[in-house]
Amino acid sequence: MIREYIRLFKARGYMKRNLPFLYSWHAYVGYELDLYEAFKKPKTVDEVSKDLTLNEDLLVRWVEVGGVIGYLKQRSKQRYQTVKRFMVPSSKNNPRSTGVLLKEMMELHIPTLIKYPKLMREDQKETFDQKEHGMVVAQTSSLLEQLAVPRVMKVIKEAKPKTLVDVGCGSGGYLQKLSNKFPKVRMTGIELNEEVAEEAAKNCQEQERIKIICADVQEWTPESKVDFVMINNVLHYVSSEERVKLFKSISQWLNKKGTLSVVTPIHNSKHGGQFSSVFNSFFTAFENLYPLPSEKDLQELARSSGMKVERMKPIIKEGGWYQITLTKK
Ligand SMILES: C[S@@+](CC[C@H](N)C(=O)[O-])C[C@H]1O[C@@H](n2cnc3c(N)ncnc32)[C@H](O)[C@@H]1O
Repeated sequence: MIREYIRLFKARGYMKRNLPFLYSWHAYVGYELDLYEAFKKPKTVDEVSKDLTLNEDLLVRWVEVGGVIGYLKQRSKQRYQTVKRFMVPSSKNNPRSTGVLLKEMMELHIPTLIKYPKLMREDQKETFDQKEHGMVVAQTSSLLEQLAVPRVMKVIKEAKPKTLVDVGCGSGGYLQKLSNKFPKVRMTGIELNEEVAEEAAKNCQEQERIKIICADVQEWTPESKVDFVMINNVLHYVSSEERVKLFKSISQWLNKKGTLSVVTPIHNSKHGGQFSSVFNSFFTAFENLYPLPSEKDLQELARSSGMKVERMKPIIKEGGWYQITLTKK
């Protein structure tokens, strides 16, 4: 009898812990089909399914869940309206919508984690498709900028560089913000993904002092020494052997008093253990993505490339995200 209760409680526990998934699922579907926009004004399911040519049975269910979790409100017998404007992602038409994070989680992270049994049994790994996912990943990464940029600005203020290189600059968000604050600094963004590099060039076209180069950083060298290099959320694209090479190259690019600023989640750090462990589970499922560095790995990278770690400051504690400042020895 007791055993049966334990069984029941265990099952109940899994179900309860999985409840938050409902909110993410609803928000993901709402973002992907722009349904929160469609229900911005009170509408019937029939109207929306006709307007957007969507299966009505499924839309009825989505609306029903929305009502239960409080993302939609029934305004009349048949009309529903989006209510929690703060909780739901803004429209897909907004390039700054937080929906990209849901897209990455639902289309990339969760399906990959679910493949674990298959990957383990078949002793194989996935290949991360840069072309397919590059843009979404760069967009979600930019969500961090808001918190990381002030920290990086502080480091730049102290280093007073004339030249700066952003390794794996994504769509150029950091460069834009930093160039507004430090308009005299000549900045170069290096980006591997062609589509993302084009987007970065477009975003930075007003700022003459920013140059975007589409290149693999492992095969690129600056024409002359630089004062400041930053590498934000890129280390998981680089294997541990290549990281050593990359840090050595960066150390050589830098002037004697040059500074390297790294933004990355750290594995086994004091903060954010859950996040970094699940990130690592995700990265390890791909043959071309690599686990996050630990604090010790970073110290070792600095040592082997003739640099030293000056500071490691948490940016988002629950995510284990840090900004790390290195200087030449
Ligand atoms: C997660 S995004 C981070 C973008 C930006 N730094 C940020 O923090 O918002 C990583 C970027 O690094 C780029 N990248 C990866 N490996 C690279 C390489 N070897 N050379 C240049 N860029 C690279 C990817 O294409 C991607 O746009």
